[in-house]
Amino acid sequence: MLVAAHLAGCGTASRALYTAGSNPDSAFAVDIVPMLELRCEGCHFPGGPQYASLPFDDPRVVLRLGDQMLSQLEGEDRTLVADFIRLAAGGEDK
Ligand code: HEC
Repeated sequence: MLVAAHLAGCGTASRALYTAGSNPDSAFAVDIVPMLELRCEGCHFPGGPQYASLPFDDPRVVLRLGDQMLSQLEGEDRTLVADFIRLAAGGEDK
């Protein structure tokens, strides 16, 4: 990423992957899904129009979207997903 033009300036709570270094699946369940449900609710979760094609409760979808995912997120939320992508790449698959 060359430019982060929209870094959120609004006092972001300091968060990090609690489970970093352990299991990508639990990191996804504990840290990623709740954040995405909060930020992206309505469309990419059950009941939403994008759930059928792009369900964000499936780690494979989030990993496949990768940088596209990151481009829709800012600040700590973006860091969480970036950390998860790194963790998944370095850890066991799926
Ligand atoms: C108002 C409904 C809505 C919300 C809320 C929403 N999305 Fe989407 N999203 C869509 C639609 C519709 C598409 C499909 C666009 C297409 O098929 O071209 C999409 C596609 C995407 C894609 C695929 C790449 C692209 O741009 O088409 C990504 C990545 C994505 N969304 C990320 C997010 C993230 C991250 C959030 C929360 C921060 C979010 N979306 C919230 C409706 C939404």
